[in-house]
Amino acid sequence: MKLLIINGPNLNLLGLREPEIYGKQDYAALLDFLQASAEEAGVEIECFQSNHEGAIVDAIQAAYGVFDGIVINPAAYTHTSVAILDALKAVALPAVEVHLSDVSLREDFRRISYAGMACQKTFMGLGFEGYRQAILFLKDRLSSR
Ligand code: DQA
Repeated sequence: MKLLIINGPNLNLLGLREPEIYGKQDYAALLDFLQASAEEAGVEIECFQSNHEGAIVDAIQAAYGVFDGIVINPAAYTHTSVAILDALKAVALPAVEVHLSDVSLREDFRRISYAGMACQKTFMGLGFEGYRQAILFLKDRLSSR
């Protein structure tokens, strides 16, 4: 079972950006955490990060026929990108949305999630742990098919 983990804009600056919201651990620490979570779950992962909306759309399209599911934190594009929503719907791979922070408790503009409309579940406000939960959720879903 192979999962694609997508992280959107500014998540490469974890540790530096608003540590009171996103924590003090950097993106390299997130990659280590994701690898450990994948090994624990017994799944293969590939991680992709981009600050560019089109590159994220390309990665979702390229996942078709290659990956069994997608874990996505579209970051700011969560709240703006119909293109990412449409790409997720187009490939129709089981997808789970993750946010480090609890976006429901923040500014009003973070309350809408376009990508979330194409996802089976959302984990938010759990920090890195949300990605682990997402990997385990997809593993369960995919193994029971
Ligand atoms: C985020 C929440 C988004 O609103 C924000 O734009 C991000 C990160 C999160 O992980 O909490 O960049 O997706």
